[in-house]
Amino acid sequence: MVQRHRHHQCHRLAALLSPIAFVLVAAQSVFAANLSTLDPAGPASESILNLLMLVTAISAVIFVAVIGTLIYCIVRFRETSAQANSEPPQLYGSAPIETAWTVGPILIVFVLALVIVRTVVEARQADPQTGAMTVRVIGHQWWWEYVYPDQSVVTANEMHVPVSSPNARRPIHLRLESADVIHSFWAPRLAGKTDMIPGHPNDMWFEATQPGVFHGQCAEYCGSQHANMLIRVVAESPAEFEQWLAAQRNPAVDTPAVAAGREVFFTRTCSNCHAIRGTSATGTVGPDLTHLMSRQTIAAAEIPNDRKNLAAWLADPGAMKPSCRMPDLKLSPAQIDSLVSYLETLR
Ligand code: CUA
Repeated sequence: MVQRHRHHQCHRLAALLSPIAFVLVAAQSVFAANLSTLDPAGPASESILNLLMLVTAISAVIFVAVIGTLIYCIVRFRETSAQANSEPPQLYGSAPIETAWTVGPILIVFVLALVIVRTVVEARQADPQTGAMTVRVIGHQWWWEYVYPDQSVVTANEMHVPVSSPNARRPIHLRLESADVIHSFWAPRLAGKTDMIPGHPNDMWFEATQPGVFHGQCAEYCGSQHANMLIRVVAESPAEFEQWLAAQRNPAVDTPAVAAGREVFFTRTCSNCHAIRGTSATGTVGPDLTHLMSRQTIAAAEIPNDRKNLAAWLADPGAMKPSCRMPDLKLSPAQIDSLVSYLETLR
């Protein structure tokens, strides 16, 4: 009986602790995945964290004041045995108290509204200072297209940006567009999230003040692969970034040794959807493949980009990413092998 009782308590304790454990594990993985709003890597996300802290502080003061008053009243005005059965003094209205609890909240809401509007305006500012580099971000089901209009560069899924420093600020202006449904761009350590609405471009900006790979996630439900629409922003030194740009600007190299794979690409309709600059492939439905191998991942940062995964992807895209738009082209293993060899030359 005692044993059973203890068992029961154990279960109860576990039931009580499991949500706490869940929150702790979730918070830990958010930090580990480089996704925490509480760890800003630039001024755009810093201003959001400041707002969050201010709202939390005001809420905490209100919480302590209300709960404190409640506890004080419970203790201070407890019924004593002498008062039993007698009515306490009855109060009907108090002008000072009513004025206080009307004016107080109005002031709090007013102050909050001011700082919130200021932060929102800052976040929306398309061009925080002259010299911001524009990147068009186009959301697709289910991948990201990045176009650098002034640099004549098109890439997918992994955005490269230069790191900003106090004497050489490198703000990035994002022009957010959608090719199909509503998506939302959110790399929490860099900036707040902004929706990408078909036919209605939105603007946002950020600055990365430290190098690194910043992760993000499509933040608006956009279909079955929404959860796997991941973002990678690679912030690197201005010199490394210029190097990357120069390499991306080049057309694809033509390697005669992989002619067989190239043949598969151009005869099996791949070029209808994908572009490879320097060739006749100019499709815009799928990611630009000119420098495919310069990317660490495929399929919206979900799958590491290597020979084995490329082959599996070509053999059955739906198995790796259910209901994705990339069709199964029913290629033979030999065709896949030579096609992967061709893709691997697209550096
Ligand atoms: Cu794209 Cu959710």
